[in-house]
Amino acid sequence: MAKARTAYACTDCGATALQWFGTCPSCGAVGTLVETVTERGAAKRFEPVSGASAPVALAEVKTREQHRLSTGIGELDRVLGGGLVAGQVVLIGGDPGIGKSTLLLQALARLDAAARALYVSGEESVEQVALRARRLELEAGSLHLLAEIQLERIAEAFAARKPRVAVVDSIQTLWSEALQSAPGSVAQVRECAAQLARQAKRVGLALVIVGHVTKEGTIAGPRVLEHLVDTVLYFEGDPNSSFRLIRAVKNRFGAVNELGVFAMTDRGLRAVANPSALFLSQHAANVAGSCVLATLEGSRPLLVEIQALVDTAQAPTPRRLSVGLEPNRLAMLLAVLHRHAGIRTADQDVFVNAVGGVRIGEPAADLAVSLAIVSSLADRPIPGKVAVFGEIGLAGEVRPAPRGQERLKEAAKLGFVKAIVPKANRPKAAIGDLEIVAVERIGDAVAVLKDW
Ligand code: TYD
Ligand code: MG
Repeated sequence: MAKARTAYACTDCGATALQWFGTCPSCGAVGTLVETVTERGAAKRFEPVSGASAPVALAEVKTREQHRLSTGIGELDRVLGGGLVAGQVVLIGGDPGIGKSTLLLQALARLDAAARALYVSGEESVEQVALRARRLELEAGSLHLLAEIQLERIAEAFAARKPRVAVVDSIQTLWSEALQSAPGSVAQVRECAAQLARQAKRVGLALVIVGHVTKEGTIAGPRVLEHLVDTVLYFEGDPNSSFRLIRAVKNRFGAVNELGVFAMTDRGLRAVANPSALFLSQHAANVAGSCVLATLEGSRPLLVEIQALVDTAQAPTPRRLSVGLEPNRLAMLLAVLHRHAGIRTADQDVFVNAVGGVRIGEPAADLAVSLAIVSSLADRPIPGKVAVFGEIGLAGEVRPAPRGQERLKEAAKLGFVKAIVPKANRPKAAIGDLEIVAVERIGDAVAVLKDW
């Protein structure tokens, strides 16, 4: 194979140079030059060429229903939007050791022979992968393994086996002979992923690329690849707990923010049927500073315990810390609580935490966070099984949250008996035995707690 020509491009200003410099000769940025393959014979001017593709009327474009190939793992199919699509390129990112290889091996082993599944490992030998499969008791008669890190040899294996589904684990180990940079460098990661993605599109291969999330530095993380692929999944979880969450952050073939929940067991990853139970800590009795939030993760309602600790500040500047929740919203909520509910925390340290390592981005968490803070400050538990949701505005109003009914149904299903909700979310018909308290202002919600 003829060597492709390479140049060095600045990731800041886009200028190119024929040799590597520590500082970009054009914009002066330090350490931004990255090796890239140059397009040979690229058009120098904007002029017509023969055989160019012609525009077609939208109405005349024929589309087919996308056939989805199920991975056999329900939670994974859910985040993919129903399964893999031919030609789809999926990037699955996560910290080393979180379980990416385990999950993908389990998924490939469940595919039937028609998928001609291929697992390319650049990190483990075929014996190691086979040992893991045996330990997981996977029946993988038709799955083929390849231990290879050179892109051109992987291309050969693809041409020979013609897989419909393939996994490349991981992109950081691959290198292409077209570039001189080391495996794991931005240049290699980008070039290898681009070549693989192009091939997948050309032959209709569903390709899953594994990428380790790494600290910023010389090693390229999956971020540089997000625009190249159709779907980006992140695999996350607290290393100290066995629970793993898989989340779609980009998906051309389905909804984003869908969440799949797994538990890592001695037999690999198992889907968790009732994830709400995970994010509620098991207290024998109600404790102060705890409030259960009925949240939404993608299309799925989820109950998550929000904990707050409010304690006399030891330093002149009180600390505000939030884990799993928006830090800026905490400061805002404390100001609203002070102005509109008379709850003063100016001389208190305030810590809030979402239990179970889950991250909550939606503003509908506001009311639960506020009530947890009020409960901790008063050192009084919220009595009974109460679920809460609602966004709080700067004027102290409690705003409705989307899909209130579903949140309440999930709460009722898990045996909750009361719910504090925004007035506009009050359900028209009763939901189980759930007693609904609808509030309009943050002050009303705080008053409700005082009455109980
Ligand atoms: P792995 O899939 O190798 O992680 P990644 O590919 O994301 O780097 O997972 C490795 C971890 O999972 C390792 O710490 C051991 C644990 N594990 C189990 O607990 N049970 C199992 O059955 C397997 C295969 C792994
Ligand atoms: Mg791995």
